[in-house]
Amino acid sequence: MISLGIVGTGRLGGVLARLARDAGLEVRTVSSSDSPAALADAASSDVVVLALPLRRLRELDPAPFAGRVVVDAMNHVPLWDGPAPDVEAAPSSSEYVQGYLRCARLVKTLNHLGADELDDDAAPPGTPGRRAVGVAGDDAEAVRTVMALVERLGFDAVPAGPLAAGVLLEPRSDVFNGLYDRDEMAALFQRSR
Ligand SMILES: NC(=O)c1ccc[n+]([C@@H]2O[C@H](COP(=O)([O-])OP(=O)(O)OC[C@H]3O[C@@H](n4cnc5c(N)ncnc54)[C@H](OP(=O)(O)O)[C@@H]3O)[C@@H](O)[C@H]2O)c1
Repeated sequence: MISLGIVGTGRLGGVLARLARDAGLEVRTVSSSDSPAALADAASSDVVVLALPLRRLRELDPAPFAGRVVVDAMNHVPLWDGPAPDVEAAPSSSEYVQGYLRCARLVKTLNHLGADELDDDAAPPGTPGRRAVGVAGDDAEAVRTVMALVERLGFDAVPAGPLAAGVLLEPRSDVFNGLYDRDEMAALFQRSR
């Protein structure tokens, strides 16, 4: 993988862009004020990360995401984001996202650490106690690609299961509220099955 698109240039998008550039990736970012052509350019990257507020997802044209490996790094926290009955009615927020971006190869990850934690805790492979990041998705090849991205950004990537297992990474989950290394997170996912 050599290019990373990032939709959203706020706190999360900014940190991810920096980590990715440090890792030698070509980064294309887009925010709400950019043109549809800029969105299409970011979405044509090897992997594209959604780092915008979930409530604004439907502002995006789904067409450029068709067939693309797309990371859902978004969360819905009613207290901060306000009520979103359509999201809350879905079995997991990533399945809601997949329902909108129907033809995207969606993978849930990079949502359960704060942007500051991503910045502070990124570490080279093999660093003792390197922090783990969970990855959930239905498309095995897309999951492998995204796990390689997570590793390159500085974290041990741990498969959580299918996209529906993205609930294990959502706010209120143990993963969201804890700090785990690879073995600890793998054990936690094992217990949750
Ligand atoms: N902050 C964290 O620590 C953190 C950690 C993990 C996950 N997350 C999740 O990441 C997402 C973003 O959080 P954040 O804290 O980074 O938010 P933020 O600082 O408010 O930034 C949001 C970004 O999304 C952009 N955006 C909004 N609508 C857009 C659209 N239609 N097209 C393209 N870009 C659009 C905004 O652009 P404009 O400014 O031009 O509107 C802005 O750059 C949320 O879902 C959050 O739950 C955040």
